Amino acid sequence: MKILVTGGAGFIGSHLSKALIERGDNVVIIDNFNDFYDPKLKRDRISKFLKGCKFTLYEGDIRDYQFLETIFKKEKLDKVMHLAAVAGVRHSLIDPFVYEEVNVRGTLNLLELSVKYKIQNFIFASSSSVYGLSKEAIFSEHHCVDFPISMYAASKRAKELMAHVYSHIHGLNTVGLRYFSVYGPWGRPDMALFKFTKNILEDKPIDVYNYGKMSRSFTYIDDIVTGTLKAIDQNFKYEIINIGGAKEEQLMRYIKLIEKYLGKKAKKNLMPMQPGDIHVSMADSRKLSKLDWNPKTSIDEGIKHFINWYKNYYNVGDQEEAEAEQTASV
Ligand SMILES: NC(=O)c1ccc[n+]([C@@H]2O[C@H](COP(=O)([O-])OP(=O)(O)OC[C@H]3O[C@@H](n4cnc5c(N)ncnc54)[C@H](O)[C@@H]3O)[C@@H](O)[C@H]2O)c1
Repeated sequence: MKILVTGGAGFIGSHLSKALIERGDNVVIIDNFNDFYDPKLKRDRISKFLKGCKFTLYEGDIRDYQFLETIFKKEKLDKVMHLAAVAGVRHSLIDPFVYEEVNVRGTLNLLELSVKYKIQNFIFASSSSVYGLSKEAIFSEHHCVDFPISMYAASKRAKELMAHVYSHIHGLNTVGLRYFSVYGPWGRPDMALFKFTKNILEDKPIDVYNYGKMSRSFTYIDDIVTGTLKAIDQNFKYEIINIGGAKEEQLMRYIKLIEKYLGKKAKKNLMPMQPGDIHVSMADSRKLSKLDWNPKTSIDEGIKHFINWYKNYYNVGDQEEAEAEQTASV
């Protein structure tokens, strides 16, 4: 299979590309290496994390239809795995326009070209944030998601709706994956685990929103990859699928585990809830379980892997242990 991975230099994209290449697929990556967070981390994912892997890389923007068309014409792709996006809830309160441009228009460009170039399956990243003001304790795909509370969530819901149109009108097979709080090595600097680890190591306080009264279905990156591969391998006409950790984990326990593996206490700045954020997000992943998927990594294990990676990558803390862990997990 020849698969286009948009956002392939990103956190999830780089892990997924590696898994696809290792199982023998032919991977074409698009990324614009923007500075939403340190682009060096994106470049290192390509040059270090994907070292030794064979793939084709195009540097460019999914907002650029002509650029995309050149790739579709040349590469004769079978499937599209669309991960490129402006991610993060909080930034969407500051700059809503870029979410519309990249997440909505960029996706529309890819849907159009997928029909024009007869792509077999179009799989894309949605998000648990679409559940917004849902009153349900556990989020399931059949719940109403008409009440998003950030432009990020609204742009993800827009993707799902556009994908339905393209499936219905043009017969394009589309699957939207609602990822729940993904974490792990090579993770994003704007996400809690990364920020907490960095600040604790640098003796800086960490901002803990809603006074710590939050919980999440934290999902380890390897579980996200196995779940995504399951979806890539199906031929659904149109499907929305949750991919989330099996347990509802409290934010305070998450912080305790970071402290445990850093061997250092956090200075906590207890703050009120941030606009746009949700208190609880718990995944009902039974739909994906029917495809023989179950999350395997506990947050205890996952946080340990992340911290060992972080120490090794940034050359901080107890190096020997970090290096041993890196070698063991390759
Ligand atoms: N990480 C999570 O917890 C999480 C949760 C839910 C959904 N998602 C979704 O999963 C996808 C991947 O997320 P991630 O955590 O790997 O984020 P990421 O920011 O690490 O990866 C996204 C990649 O897309 C690229 N990109 C952004 N705009 C682009 C553009 N206009 N043209 C080309 N490339 C562009 C970025 O440079 C980046 O490398 C996103 O769609 C995100 O919304 C992530």
